Amino acid sequence: MQKEFAGKTALVTGASRGIGAATAVALARAGCERVLIHYSSSFEAAQETARRVRVFGAEAELIAGDLSSEEGICAFLASLGGRARAVDILVNNAGSLIQRAKLAEMSYELYDRVMTLNAKSAWFVSQSVAPHMAARGSGAVVLVSSIAARTGGGTGATVYAAAKAAVSAFAKGLARELAPRGVRVNAVSPGTVDNDFHARFSTREMLDAVVRQTPQGRLSTNEDVADVIVFLCSDAARNVIGQTIEVNGGMFMI
Ligand SMILES: NC(=O)c1ccc[n+]([C@@H]2O[C@H](COP(=O)([O-])OP(=O)(O)OC[C@H]3O[C@@H](n4cnc5c(N)ncnc54)[C@H](OP(=O)(O)O)[C@@H]3O)[C@@H](O)[C@H]2O)c1
Repeated sequence: MQKEFAGKTALVTGASRGIGAATAVALARAGCERVLIHYSSSFEAAQETARRVRVFGAEAELIAGDLSSEEGICAFLASLGGRARAVDILVNNAGSLIQRAKLAEMSYELYDRVMTLNAKSAWFVSQSVAPHMAARGSGAVVLVSSIAARTGGGTGATVYAAAKAAVSAFAKGLARELAPRGVRVNAVSPGTVDNDFHARFSTREMLDAVVRQTPQGRLSTNEDVADVIVFLCSDAARNVIGQTIEVNGGMFMI
């Protein structure tokens, strides 16, 4: 446990599963006092995250919200309500490819959902939380980008990749805006994580090909990414501002 996290409240979006669930648990393990667990459709999984958070003595609260539409974002922020004022650590993690779609297959509706879930929600959740951090003169925001932001994404993932490129740009612009007020903003950029995301959107053959191209010889895990997020929220990263940290086992080096 790191003393610096004592008394802190963290909000992790998309904390029902995958990287977000691992991050909520890792922040509790690091010593956060309260973890606000956002979820959308996976209520039981979110309850399981809450149970794992409480094992470390932290309070856990669930807040639902579909972040793939403007109405959903606003409803989530209404549910978050006054709790936004208490958030010291914000991890904008909720995201999804939603559906692979090449140029001709992409509808206006799908385009908007992908952009809204992956980029717009991170912006407006930050807008409702970060000013309170700035008023206190301290806080950490971590955005979750993707290797796709740099590569343009795999087949049918171009709009998702563009949304993640926006997220990486947010990390720089928001960092510049908020650093003078004591709030550090950074991002992590996972490579290919062996979790539900790729169980849904990729084949085993695609994943095996990634492993073959990865110097470390394996896919990333939820915990690999969560631990870097906790680092970015910690005092050890006090001079790290506006960075996007690649977490991919050396699969892609910049
Ligand atoms: N997996 C990878 O290889 C990889 C690589 C690079 C970046 N990323 C990024 O990492 C983040 C976490 O992904 P993951 O790998 O942990 O995927 P995951 O296991 O599929 O989890 C996705 C999380 O996002 C939430 N979510 C999905 N659709 C949502 C919606 N419409 N509204 C609100 N929340 C929604 C899910 O909530 P519910 O289940 O409750 O609906 C879940 O908690 C995402 O931003 C993703 O783009 C993942």
